[in-house]
Amino acid sequence: MSELGKLEDLPLSYRQELSALNLVPLWPSLRSVLPPKVPTRQTQATYWSYETLRPLLLQAGDLTPMEKAERRVLVLANPGHGLENMKASAAIYLGMQLLLPGEWAPSHRHTPNAVRMIVEGEGAYTTVDGEKCEMERGDLILTPTGLWHEHGHDGTTPVVWLDVLDLPVVFYLETSYAIEGQRQTIKPGHSDQQNVRSGIAPTRMFERNSKAYPMLRYPWKDTKSALITLAQDDPSQECVQVTYINPETGDDVQNILGFYALMLRPGQVLRLPARSPAQVFHVVEGQVEAQILNSTFAMREADTCCAPGYEAVTLKNLSAHQPSFVFIADESPLHRKLGVYENRG
Ligand SMILES: [Fe+2]
Repeated sequence: MSELGKLEDLPLSYRQELSALNLVPLWPSLRSVLPPKVPTRQTQATYWSYETLRPLLLQAGDLTPMEKAERRVLVLANPGHGLENMKASAAIYLGMQLLLPGEWAPSHRHTPNAVRMIVEGEGAYTTVDGEKCEMERGDLILTPTGLWHEHGHDGTTPVVWLDVLDLPVVFYLETSYAIEGQRQTIKPGHSDQQNVRSGIAPTRMFERNSKAYPMLRYPWKDTKSALITLAQDDPSQECVQVTYINPETGDDVQNILGFYALMLRPGQVLRLPARSPAQVFHVVEGQVEAQILNSTFAMREADTCCAPGYEAVTLKNLSAHQPSFVFIADESPLHRKLGVYENRG
């Protein structure tokens, strides 16, 4: 690929004339916006140890009352994007959120989509669109774009969860905003129990559920049991994985980010292909080593790491006797919609 002219090759007076007219020459920047074969990625392989961040998150509980935080979160920021930009990848935001007994995080709704993966504690709940969703370790709870949500805690110990949002991309599009609301009235309803059990769907007078987000809570006990059954039914199958889907449409649960759960058999080493989306790995149960580019992360329960797109990732179950379970978030739905999704094997 031939070298192109640089900005400083141009006479200063010419550059100034262009700038004054809001014009920019393309050729000095052409190679950086269209690099050969592999995109420039700011996302770095980054690891966050839960054991290390937990005391700092609890300290935030002492330092900042809920009224002053609204959402008490430490953002898991990728240094490649600049910490102040609060991105794990180009499209993914990650935050560890703390709710103390008796606290309430006020109702709001916003354009970015969020999910939360519960990390520890009992007795907390998220009310989403009037539905009270209990929060237990490993559960996935959706707060999709535009739906009211708030968090309450009737338990006795701190509750922590991992927030995963598509905030960076929604913010980049200049479409990110929030609306504050009143405390929601809880309506009876358990979308997690109405959906997907034995392949049936709620139907009223022959009409199926028309809600865009018919299921809001994905209990870990059901996900884990599906993974164990998958592994037992086909012991020769290398990859034991499920996708979190909308039970009415079969599509990804949200429009921008995709969510999966993966089981690694005892001692298993699994190579995930190099695909265009960046991805996040969070250990729900067990111990997993993640190899991403030149980094190797020995991850324990509740640890999180992220990988840039276009790179293969190797996951190894560090236990020779127990399966390990990993929650994965990626940018696949967005890449597929944009037509830029690639699996390079
Ligand atoms: Fe929110």
